[in-house]
Amino acid sequence: MQDETDPPPSDPPSPGADPEPDAAGGRRTVFVALGAAAGLAGLAAGCAAPPLSTAAAPAVPGAPAPRGRLEGQSVLVTGAARGIGRAICLAAAREGADVLGFDIAGPASRHVGYPPATPADLAETERLVQALGRRFLPVQGDVRSRPALARAVDQAVGAFGKLDAVVANAGIMVPEGIAEVNDEGWRDVLDVNLTGAANTFRAAIPAMSARRRGRMVAIASMLGRMGAPISPQYNAAKWGLIGLVKSAALELGGKGITVNAVSPTGVNTVMLRNARQYAAVTPRAVPGRVPEAVAATASRTVHPLGVPWVEPEDVAAVVVFLASDEARYVSGASFDVTAGLGAIYTA
Ligand SMILES: NC(=O)c1ccc[n+]([C@@H]2O[C@H](COP(=O)([O-])OP(=O)(O)OC[C@H]3O[C@@H](n4cnc5c(N)ncnc54)[C@H](O)[C@@H]3O)[C@@H](O)[C@H]2O)c1
Repeated sequence: MQDETDPPPSDPPSPGADPEPDAAGGRRTVFVALGAAAGLAGLAAGCAAPPLSTAAAPAVPGAPAPRGRLEGQSVLVTGAARGIGRAICLAAAREGADVLGFDIAGPASRHVGYPPATPADLAETERLVQALGRRFLPVQGDVRSRPALARAVDQAVGAFGKLDAVVANAGIMVPEGIAEVNDEGWRDVLDVNLTGAANTFRAAIPAMSARRRGRMVAIASMLGRMGAPISPQYNAAKWGLIGLVKSAALELGGKGITVNAVSPTGVNTVMLRNARQYAAVTPRAVPGRVPEAVAATASRTVHPLGVPWVEPEDVAAVVVFLASDEARYVSGASFDVTAGLGAIYTA
């Protein structure tokens, strides 16, 4: 979801024109690591088995209309008001799912340096899903409250008859180094990004295990698979989230539930495209004075596919795959959506 007040940067200056040399070593790499579509192409190319869904069936005169990959399913998405969460709601609806969108739709922490989502944002997600012909239940709540999530699951089951998939997407970013990080800000990031995701999964277990079928997806981050010198609490939460996914996958497989993570590089949302983030990732930056084009150029140079960030829709596409029948035996995995940068991992 592009921030309409913040137009995309123009093409980068030619090499050598970057006014901010990379004096801080890995900081450029870190910027892009904040955060996706190469994985899908690889999956499709490597898949020898016949397709499980009818979504790609050729149009035959008189044949029934093609069905979406999530036709008739019910999906709960946290952080649904905007950004990646909204893109997931829309992608799921486009594939035939009804959606419960859960969001705090207000400030989650006073340490976050970018504007919070609003009830109007959540209402806009609702409007967009309904325009696709699917049902949408907006629920305002905080992922730090497991009872609130349990109620949301009940609402989804009440309205849609079942719960097929949950996406633990809600998250916040506070770019503060370990030397200066504030105690409360530290707790907020861990509580929302890690405990909030655990709460989301835990709330869904009863409804999913009763049907012996369920899909759980967490939006982690490339910063859950590598280190970075700008956000230790965010890194710790996202590394923890992938650990949670793997443990839950092992435990819940016997209940017919798959659990996976998606780990994006920087994504074109408010969380990434704000002045504080640009300052945090740019050497010798004056806060609030780093032009977006400078940060974007630094980021573009480290992505093998040559983009400064990926789009929320690139992340949503992988989530749809993981929620679909095609991914019935995919569990305990983390899927990079990193425009190629994830190749720097050791494995
Ligand atoms: N944008 C990136 O560069 C990037 C990269 C990798 C991973 N991610 C992850 O993707 C997820 C979505 O991020 P985004 O970029 O769309 O950010 P965003 O700020 O645009 O959206 C996050 C949404 O989560 C909601 N939210 C925050 N705290 C909440 C809480 N306590 N309870 C309920 N809802 C809450 C917000 O209101 C907002 O609508 C996050 O987990 C983030 O860490 C983002």
